Amino acid sequence: MPTRRLCDPTDARRLLNPGPVAIVTTTWRAMTNAAPIAWTAPVSMEPPFVGMAIHPHRHTADMIRFSQEFAINIPGPGLLKQTHFLGTLSGVNTNKLESAGLETFGAQRIDAPLIDGCLAWIECGLHDVIAIGDHTLFVGRVIKVQALEEAYAQQWLLKERRYSPLTYIGGANYGVIGDPLVATIETDVQGGLIAENADEREQREEEEARERELRDAEGDEGFEELSKRD
Ligand SMILES: Cc1cc2nc3c(=O)[nH]c(=O)nc-3n(C[C@H](O)[C@H](O)[C@H](O)COP(=O)(O)O)c2cc1C
Repeated sequence: MPTRRLCDPTDARRLLNPGPVAIVTTTWRAMTNAAPIAWTAPVSMEPPFVGMAIHPHRHTADMIRFSQEFAINIPGPGLLKQTHFLGTLSGVNTNKLESAGLETFGAQRIDAPLIDGCLAWIECGLHDVIAIGDHTLFVGRVIKVQALEEAYAQQWLLKERRYSPLTYIGGANYGVIGDPLVATIETDVQGGLIAENADEREQREEEEARERELRDAEGDEGFEELSKRD
């Protein structure tokens, strides 16, 4: 039986985290910077706006305020180390893109560079800056969006791991968004949801039986190992 555990209110941030992690690139007066930002969210569809909560001490926060624009680059698992590296130091005195060995290419509508090897790129103009608690919400007006055909076609395809977005779990832990599921809704005569139809029940029972068999087989091997040691 799964156990429910009481968490700290600050755990809300990590429970909500796993969307794609963004690498935010900025440029101002011939200086460029890049930092991973996990706290992002779409905040309006038409016009399209996105929000990012960034601590005011980050160099990225200043770069966005000065340049009035930023780009969101979405990496896949191939850029795991580079993504984490960019979050371990400030770009105030270092060209982090260079230190991370990342190549860039020109954006279409803004000056901030876009990172090669990412899966998608969102170019934004700064629309609003809202102070909230210890972070600042930077709201960007989306100006241009590009994505790899292998990764995205109106939604993330999640067909191949290397073309699926990285997500940030906390600490040095990341995941890859995957295992796509399609939700089909069936209702009974009262309009209530049929959570599992006959086919799905059969499939689940088959899977559970397979898992039981596997567990039993592993148990036998474990037992054999123990008997050999005796
Ligand atoms: C995966 C990851 C996600 C992060 N998300 C955020 C975030 O959402 N907001 C934030 O203010 N800092 C976040 N950080 C911390 C900044 O990326 C980090 O402080 C970085 O060094 C800032 O660089 P800068 O000072 O050059 O802007 C994150 C770090 C990592 C590794």
